[in-house]
Amino acid sequence: MLGLYSIKNLRISTCVLIVLGCIAVLQLLLLYGSYNYKCISKEDIGKYLYMYLNPKVVKRLDKPACDYEMVYKQVHKDDWSIIEQSNQFDPSGIVNGSFVPEDCNPQLSIAILEAENSLQGLLYNVGARQAARELFPCLVLHDVDLLPLSAANLYACLLQPRHLSASLDKFRFVLPYYGLVGGVLALTTEHFRQLNGFSNKFTGWGGEDDEFAARIMDHNLEILRFPPDMSRYTMLVHQQAPVNGQRFRLMSETVAAQDGLNSMHYRSVSVSQHPLFTLIRVVT
Ligand SMILES: *[C@@H]1O[C@H](CO)[C@@H](O)[C@H](O)[C@H]1NC(C)=O
Repeated sequence: MLGLYSIKNLRISTCVLIVLGCIAVLQLLLLYGSYNYKCISKEDIGKYLYMYLNPKVVKRLDKPACDYEMVYKQVHKDDWSIIEQSNQFDPSGIVNGSFVPEDCNPQLSIAILEAENSLQGLLYNVGARQAARELFPCLVLHDVDLLPLSAANLYACLLQPRHLSASLDKFRFVLPYYGLVGGVLALTTEHFRQLNGFSNKFTGWGGEDDEFAARIMDHNLEILRFPPDMSRYTMLVHQQAPVNGQRFRLMSETVAAQDGLNSMHYRSVSVSQHPLFTLIRVVT
């Protein structure tokens, strides 16, 4: 009797241990999965690149085509000195915020848009409209507080929308969820137009990026990413804008076809050229 009792006891404790062990392994696998999110391999990047040049760029026959493979296939290390480097940034060659390489013919053009206050959706729409007027084929929507840590992280559009900041120090370099497109996102000007841009309704922090991800998925577009080691970013320390408590309600109410590029309300826009950027001021 005593022997049976102890076996029973053992079984119960073994069961508990097995269950706990399974939970631990599952947790580990889930975490493992997000460190190693689904991405395109380095070898395949070339097949996905959106090779469109701004038609205003004049090609020179005496120069070779720029080699992008050399950029994204380079062996690289994390570059945490980027924060000091950004203070000694060399602006030569940049005119009105535009840069065209000297020694080779570029094969693609991008317009980087940074929106500097809480009306991020509306401001991205305004910036995208200006970039489209200036014939840019690709938009990179960029949070002002993020700095890339990998020189191999080629700033370019792919055939599908591309989330660049998939491995961010703020999230301990883990991608929190597949539909995250906040931070740095590159997509073609044409896709941006098809999605009717961003919702203009969100103010403060949060929501407009998730609502934009819903537009991407509703249009059966994919969210592509480079491998984690190429997608590392650091976030500069700053005070966060107030969280928008209405963001979930706004998300459920937004109708993409009625709220975006076709429903922008502002009183005036001014465009001015500065050495390193084009400043677009919007009065709402
Ligand atoms: C830069 O902007 C100024 C002011 O708008 C303009 O006069 C000039 O032609 C521009 N330069 C180039 C190279 O686009």
